[in-house]
Amino acid sequence: MANPNIRLSLALDASMLEKAETDAFIFNAADNANYSDLGAATCIQWFKPTCDRLQTRGFSTMQTVAAKTNLALVEITRSKPQTLGLIAQAFDSLSVGGSLFVNGDKTNGIESHLKTLRKLFDIHGVISKAHGKIFWLTKANRPNILDQWIAGMNPIEIESKYRTQAGVFSSNHKDKGSTLLLENLPAHLAGKGADLGAGWGYLSHELLIKSEKIKSLALIEADWNALNCARLNVTDERASFHWSDVTQLESSSYDFIIMNPPFHLTRKAEPDIGKVFIERASVLLAPKGQLWMVANRQLAYEATLDTYFTSISSVAETAQFKVINASRPKKQTFRR
Ligand SMILES: C[S@@+](CC[C@H](N)C(=O)[O-])C[C@H]1O[C@@H](n2cnc3c(N)ncnc32)[C@H](O)[C@@H]1O
Repeated sequence: MANPNIRLSLALDASMLEKAETDAFIFNAADNANYSDLGAATCIQWFKPTCDRLQTRGFSTMQTVAAKTNLALVEITRSKPQTLGLIAQAFDSLSVGGSLFVNGDKTNGIESHLKTLRKLFDIHGVISKAHGKIFWLTKANRPNILDQWIAGMNPIEIESKYRTQAGVFSSNHKDKGSTLLLENLPAHLAGKGADLGAGWGYLSHELLIKSEKIKSLALIEADWNALNCARLNVTDERASFHWSDVTQLESSSYDFIIMNPPFHLTRKAEPDIGKVFIERASVLLAPKGQLWMVANRQLAYEATLDTYFTSISSVAETAQFKVINASRPKKQTFRR
């Protein structure tokens, strides 16, 4: 299969840039890309597992930028407003005369971004390779529309109630699966709980309103932006907020865990991440703790649930989703 990393290398050669004289900034840096041509780059990344892997490779990571550079690269995201916001931030992070590169796959909309930017800037070069494109420009005049693009990354209100942000999971509406889970949670949930992959806080917010016996609820989420929205949505003082990779959490003693686990990190369905969430839930629960989860019906989690829990019951099913309650975690066999 063609290697998309090759685009950056070709573009740097074609643009005849020397290696970055100051540290380059890479917005939405990928943890598997080869950035060796960019020197000691700083990666702007908000997804914790990706940050951790970039750091292991020796990169420094940040969630926002407050410095100037002479070379910025934007790896586009699947969200158009988020990508435009990142392009505007990257433009602003450049000194005048600095170079901005924008890289991405066709499936993520690189062609539409090129079209948009061509209307505003003199595009110096474009390379099409490996089902995508990279293009670049030099920082000169700043079009006013960049203010709108930056504002497009601010939290917005949806359903006259919740705050979300471009690029986070289910940014335009509450998720149907999570709504089904909420409808099927028992009224007696009490004690110390956790919401694994809490997103912008929909489940936690609604649960804390209806359950007075809950003493504390940890919202654990890998997306920095989603967690910041959750802080706006969940103002109950029993809530705590943790920017963490669930798959790396060590044992704990929660009385209950709720979750609508991720089932893809790319465009493909990747049930394995959901299976790791189930395994971690079993480790994080107290011996009498209970897991309440929702999943897409076609995802086969039953064997994993059987491996890690003694008792499993199906609580509700619709054409699209299933709600499952699992209890009595079989901790002793697989504690890390
Ligand atoms: C299906 S969404 C559910 C979000 C939220 N609970 C809701 O109901 O709207 C799964 C969430 O898990 C987060 N996530 C993905 N991988 C993660 C990881 N390794 N650790 C923590 N959270 C993760 C995603 O960013 C996303 O917000």
